[in-house]
Amino acid sequence: MSGAMRKAVFAKPLQEIFSAIPRRYELINLVLTWGGVNHWRQEATRECLAGVPSTVLDLGCGTGELTVNLMRRATYAVKVTGLDCSQPMLDLAMEKAAPLVRKPSFIKGYADALPFPDRYFDCVMVSFAFRNLLCENPLAQANLAEIFRVTAPGGKFVVLETGQPENRLLKALFHLYLRWWVLPVGWLISGDLDAYRYLAESAACFYPPEEIKQMLTRSGFSRVSSRQFLFGAIALYAASR
Ligand SMILES: C[S@@+](CC[C@H](N)C(=O)[O-])C[C@H]1O[C@@H](n2cnc3c(N)ncnc32)[C@H](O)[C@@H]1O
Repeated sequence: MSGAMRKAVFAKPLQEIFSAIPRRYELINLVLTWGGVNHWRQEATRECLAGVPSTVLDLGCGTGELTVNLMRRATYAVKVTGLDCSQPMLDLAMEKAAPLVRKPSFIKGYADALPFPDRYFDCVMVSFAFRNLLCENPLAQANLAEIFRVTAPGGKFVVLETGQPENRLLKALFHLYLRWWVLPVGWLISGDLDAYRYLAESAACFYPPEEIKQMLTRSGFSRVSSRQFLFGAIALYAASR
């Protein structure tokens, strides 16, 4: 992506972008991924709960799909906290969690200044918000440092995010898909061009798995592993502190 295009795409503050689209956000996710998003979130949930964590942070929880999924899937008492910087997203998340018997807690906050003590969470999860925390983000290092700080020793960091297919043809197809399906359909349903241009273009230029693994290792995490879905268009990472 050219410098000028980057400037245009990433000019609007993220918080503004995410506060503008929530009502139809989940419907759009389903349409853009042909329902796949639910399956990938289930896989991320399984990865997290496999470590039987007592405390889980869903960072950039958005409308709380993953947060609620974690509460539903856990067969034991787990304390789950969803954090997001967008109040409209959090409002929807709280609505979604209202019918649950055991409820997660939600808190407004920013990834670079997490309002939790050191080593507090047995598992930190980020689903489709990792791009926001890293891509063209001057706070990328601070975000990673905070995630590491709040993860307990022996704890897990699980990331579900768009990836980059290794095969050049599939990568080109993925980028065409972002440009000619994700951008126009997201725009059409949400009415928000900036948000879906940001999604399409940040996904197109996001880091491939090897770079993500190196970043996590440099941030202090170890045993970083990754799994790919849809020929690498989606990636699930797990790392240990
Ligand atoms: C693409 S949405 C993903 C939401 C949800 N995790 C999911 O799986 O659908 C990204 C979310 O991250 C939040 N976000 C972006 N940057 C953030 C930051 N620095 N601190 C906290 N939340 C952030 C946005 O407000 C938005 O709700």
